[in-house]
Amino acid sequence: MRNKLIANDSWYNVETGLLDRRIFSDPDLYQEELKNIFARAWNFICHDSQIPEAGDYFRSYIGEDEVIAVRDRKQQVQVLLNSCSHRGNTVCRADQGNTRSFFCSYHGWNYDLDGTLLAIPGYEDFYRSDIDKTEWGLQKAAKVSNYKGFVFATLDEDAPSLEAYLGWVGRLGIDQIAFRGDIEVVDGIQKNRVQCNWKIAVDNLFDWYHPKVSHGSAMDIGIATNADMHPMNQMVILGEYGHAIGGPGLSEESQLKIVKEHGHKKPTSAYDRKEYTDIWRATDQARETLGPVGVRSRGHPNIFPNFWITLGGTQACLRIPKGPLETELWWFTFVDKSIPPEARREFVRGVSHIFGPAGLLEQDDGENWAHSTRASIGTLTGARPAVISMGQGHDQVVEDPSGQSHINTVVNEHGQRWTYRSWQEWMKADSWDSLMRNHSKAPEGKI
Ligand code: FES
Ligand SMILES: [Fe+2]
Repeated sequence: MRNKLIANDSWYNVETGLLDRRIFSDPDLYQEELKNIFARAWNFICHDSQIPEAGDYFRSYIGEDEVIAVRDRKQQVQVLLNSCSHRGNTVCRADQGNTRSFFCSYHGWNYDLDGTLLAIPGYEDFYRSDIDKTEWGLQKAAKVSNYKGFVFATLDEDAPSLEAYLGWVGRLGIDQIAFRGDIEVVDGIQKNRVQCNWKIAVDNLFDWYHPKVSHGSAMDIGIATNADMHPMNQMVILGEYGHAIGGPGLSEESQLKIVKEHGHKKPTSAYDRKEYTDIWRATDQARETLGPVGVRSRGHPNIFPNFWITLGGTQACLRIPKGPLETELWWFTFVDKSIPPEARREFVRGVSHIFGPAGLLEQDDGENWAHSTRASIGTLTGARPAVISMGQGHDQVVEDPSGQSHINTVVNEHGQRWTYRSWQEWMKADSWDSLMRNHSKAPEGKI
């Protein structure tokens, strides 16, 4: 199957918007993704607030490589591969915590916070002092960088700088959370697994076509309104390397109305999610950071490949691949450090009812993603392409004087098309150099 797919040289046809559905289940393609996409990209690892002190660590993933983000004694954040140099055992099993060193539970090799190998039991008696400890520290990510408190790492030393990688669209995605100022991640990342390919879960975050159908029961019980679930004003922003933002856009008139009612002031309460998102966006601080278009984008940013920031920037989700047919979702909730404990509890409870393992919406979604993935395995069903052509050729990229080019439209599949197109470019590139030379620039004109 692999040869046939690769011989086609095109899993996604940019002209027709048709997609080879086998990209959701082919095991060989999955291995290529780990190498060509996850190992090459800048991956979100954790937020600064999760590891504030020396010795604080947080365990995460780059593709299927398990990593430990740890603040070392010099206050530098290290991203270490969680695999002992002796036989490969993991040296850190807890999700997060504080430690003085990483001690391997198998034979007792012990590593410092920066990955240096400190001690080998039996170094003199068994190894006869004949092993160079300096060669056998923990492996490290090739580069670690931080944008506004968000720690990213890449396994590829040829990757461009994090800022260049993110570009203005990726940065805007993170700014949607960071503009609030002093924020922190609520302890206890919510995790659950769905039997779906990771790309189906990414595809869905741009999908404003499904809510009215998939989440009909949520509307029935009043958790969301028809306007929330099927907003007609859509704004799409496409950036280099596959970053994109898709979803509702606030019109200038609507935003002026909010400013008129509430002024340019930070909201006084976090109880009301609408207040927390829309009113905060009317502040001078938000306008300055997000820009004249960004401040009206209420859509879902995805930092390619798999880091989704939710509407209003209150939560973020990593879609971590666990084989071609399974994805683990990690939910990070961000709060303003200054909100009182009761409001914080109420806020966390509110967002957990929407997404995450207890989230009403994600339970609907997960089932559809799993069944869509399952059908991509079939001989006949897998061979029929998926249709990603909604609205193709009917919209226009608006060049804003601020440089924030965007598309104003109705419900659409621009975000998904951009994701698959970029995915294909990443898969075909054999190095960062070729990806930088051959990737699509942000589109202009008719789209
Ligand atoms: S595997 Fe870690 S000490 Fe042997
Ligand atoms: Fe959904």
